Amino acid sequence: MKILIIGSGAREHAIIKRLAQDSQVYCVMPKKNPGIVKLCKKIFLADIENPLAVTDAIKGETFDLAFASPDAVLAAGVSDALIHEGIKVASPTKAAARIEWDKSHMRKLTEKYSIKGRIKFRLVKTEKEARETIEEFGEVAIKPLGLTGGKGVKVSGDHFQRIEEGMEYVHSLLQKDKIALIEEKVEGEEFSLMCFSDGKTIAPMPPVQDHKRAFLADTGPNTGGMGSYSTGAILPFLEQSDIDEAHEILQRTIDAMANEGTPFKGVLYGQFMATKKGIRIIEFNARFADPESMNVLALLEGSLSQILMSIAEGKLIKAKFSNDATVVKYLVPNGYPDKPLKDQEVKIDEAAAKKQGAEIYFASVYEKDNKTYLGGSRTFGILGRGKTLDEAERIAEEGCGFGKGPIWHRKDIGTKKLVQKRIDHMRRIRS
Ligand SMILES: Nc1ncnc2c1ncn2[C@@H]1O[C@H](COP(=O)(O)OP(=O)(O)O)[C@@H](O)[C@H]1O
Ligand SMILES: [Mg+2]
Repeated sequence: MKILIIGSGAREHAIIKRLAQDSQVYCVMPKKNPGIVKLCKKIFLADIENPLAVTDAIKGETFDLAFASPDAVLAAGVSDALIHEGIKVASPTKAAARIEWDKSHMRKLTEKYSIKGRIKFRLVKTEKEARETIEEFGEVAIKPLGLTGGKGVKVSGDHFQRIEEGMEYVHSLLQKDKIALIEEKVEGEEFSLMCFSDGKTIAPMPPVQDHKRAFLADTGPNTGGMGSYSTGAILPFLEQSDIDEAHEILQRTIDAMANEGTPFKGVLYGQFMATKKGIRIIEFNARFADPESMNVLALLEGSLSQILMSIAEGKLIKAKFSNDATVVKYLVPNGYPDKPLKDQEVKIDEAAAKKQGAEIYFASVYEKDNKTYLGGSRTFGILGRGKTLDEAERIAEEGCGFGKGPIWHRKDIGTKKLVQKRIDHMRRIRS
């Protein structure tokens, strides 16, 4: 198969690595990602958030299948443009991806269809409404409606303490967007559960836990995700009933979107919170999670090319996964997430990392004169896999040691101590 991928981060590197096992891969990217270039038959350089630039770049070429990957690319309508070119597409249209790029749309949809796991929310347009809402809800999450690369949400108790601080944030959002979303704060343990969907049925992937906060022991600002781990079909702080509930929510959401006339084809990624009262929906994303895609794609048994084709053709095949444990740690630039260094040289000894069992995925980096430079966001995703979480963590941690330059990572991700903290937290929440 000739498959076209749009996107160039570590997530896309992981996708392309799987596809390249049995397909010829082509990729449109804004700058040369040296990890991805090696795996592709041909690359096209273009502004991937501009659908016209993408279709221009691939003029004269034919493909059996295309998959647009990053959130901003989907929100720009790149899948629609590719469909218009007569290509079979396995990623959501702009209308379907709205589940991610418009958080108010997502909350209204879960209300309209009474989808389990929905939470209390209000859209506010004035500071008065915002203050009343915060006073009424108590602890809240304050959100802009659109995409922010995982850096736009502020939660009481976590990112601010007093109402006044929350109101300051509301003020800045209203100035910018004239509207903000306020949700009740839900307490529990978060996890990611993705599924493939052909618009009708779902093929779920194993659950993964991401780490949003920048610093050790879950402190510091929110990031795009500092790393993640998986432990097979279930996470250590979850029960089978939680997984069943999450699957049901994903299926009901797919049904709702089909009913709305915007069927969702692609990867639907549920960000869930396991709470005392069951699973709650934090948000939906219309794409593979990053870093969690690296965890699950390493475990996928069978052909990703075939699965994506089955999505495009509306005849979803089931996906099978190994029960191994995985840990991903992200090496990120000094200063990330607030003031990340850019354009400095970085190196990673892939061969040595591989020898020791780790896999390296190239994220926000670019190649110039045979050297690799920081692109300004997360740098390298380092994956360890093993029969136990301990083994996977050790491999990922050792793998991080092969990165050189002004980069750092969260050493505690996937460690026994941190995972035990999660288990204890969930036990306290449930009791
Ligand atoms: N209602 C909520 N209650 C508690 N925490 C929340 C809530 N909404 C969001 N959060 C926290 O903020 C993070 C980011 O929120 P999310 O809605 O996923 O936005 P985005 O990923 O676009 O930044 C979540 O991963 C979660 O940790
Ligand atoms: Mg999110």
